[in-house]
Amino acid sequence: MTIAVCPGSFDPITLGHLDVVRRARALFDEVVVGVARNASKTALLGVDERVRLVRSAVAGMGGVRVEPVPGLLSAFCADVGAAAVVKGLRGGADVDHEVPMALMNRHLSGVETVFVLGDPTLAHVASSLVKDVARHGGPVADLVPAGVEQAVRDALGVGPAQGGSTR
Ligand code: PNS
Repeated sequence: MTIAVCPGSFDPITLGHLDVVRRARALFDEVVVGVARNASKTALLGVDERVRLVRSAVAGMGGVRVEPVPGLLSAFCADVGAAAVVKGLRGGADVDHEVPMALMNRHLSGVETVFVLGDPTLAHVASSLVKDVARHGGPVADLVPAGVEQAVRDALGVGPAQGGSTR
């Protein structure tokens, strides 16, 4: 049984994250989605809310479970017996961001990181942009799993989207 960890801050989960989880599940017997703290970001949503939204998004996907990561990702990977971390890449900026973390995790516990290329039609989808669009009253429902748009609007204290999707 090979286990992979798909980590992230998931603040909030997007369709891009979900695409990466599906790709990881195609490669590994079990995927543990790890909802972690990124020390360089201030989260909009609390960890319990992020875990709840990720669980709802992956409900029905066999072989996928969701857990909070209480500390170091490398220790979490050892705890769950993960053979690898799986992360998605949208472009060069992601490589620059991810490679130091992958090397640090390997330094700390020996865990390897496997990178998968995300769906190019989702290359513009990022949690930070979803929050920014929602904050300014724009529509994000077609960028995130069901229920996430409302959770983000509630956390931001903004009303319904002003414009519809452009598609
Ligand atoms: O979605 P993100 O914010 O790019 O994910 C980054 C995350 C949360 C996976 C990373 O910050 C992390 O692993 N945090 C847990 C604490 C940790 O292990 N820090 C050292 C990372 S090398």
